[in-house]
Amino acid sequence: MTTSLSFTLNGESVSTTAPLSVRLVDVLRDEFHLMGTKEGCGEGECGACMVLMNGRPTLSCLVLLGAAKEKEIVTIEGLRNAPGFAILAQAFNDAGAVQCGFCTPGMIMTTYALLRDHPEPDETTIRTAMAGNLCRCTGYSMIVEAVSLAAQRRGEAW
Ligand code: FES
Ligand code: FES
Repeated sequence: MTTSLSFTLNGESVSTTAPLSVRLVDVLRDEFHLMGTKEGCGEGECGACMVLMNGRPTLSCLVLLGAAKEKEIVTIEGLRNAPGFAILAQAFNDAGAVQCGFCTPGMIMTTYALLRDHPEPDETTIRTAMAGNLCRCTGYSMIVEAVSLAAQRRGEAW
């Protein structure tokens, strides 16, 4: 018997018959073609696969599909429609925090949640929040600067 599982994906109700034991990152990329969610390490170390699950930054390589049942999942594609996305993108650009871009979707997901919960983070708070997102290109000072810039510019955007 085929089991269907439903959840909310970027604001829309979706369902899938994929096995419950498949990883969420695979469902997002292979079935829903949301390629902004990257797979780097596949082991919970790099943050490239970060999504929001019920608003919390979540590593989709560590989540099995069954855990997504009835949850609200937001990927970088969904965040593009959110208030403030342009501010985040511009801040990362202005700070030179994007080179190859592989880590950037995950970085922005984490930043969005950080600034939602801590609108005026100090450097320690930023570095702590971003510790699970690795970047092999830019060095972390530019990413910290990007998050600070976004915090300064965000106003009440989200
Ligand atoms: S791919 Fe998920 S943490 Fe690296
Ligand atoms: S910009 Fe290349 S990994 Fe971060």
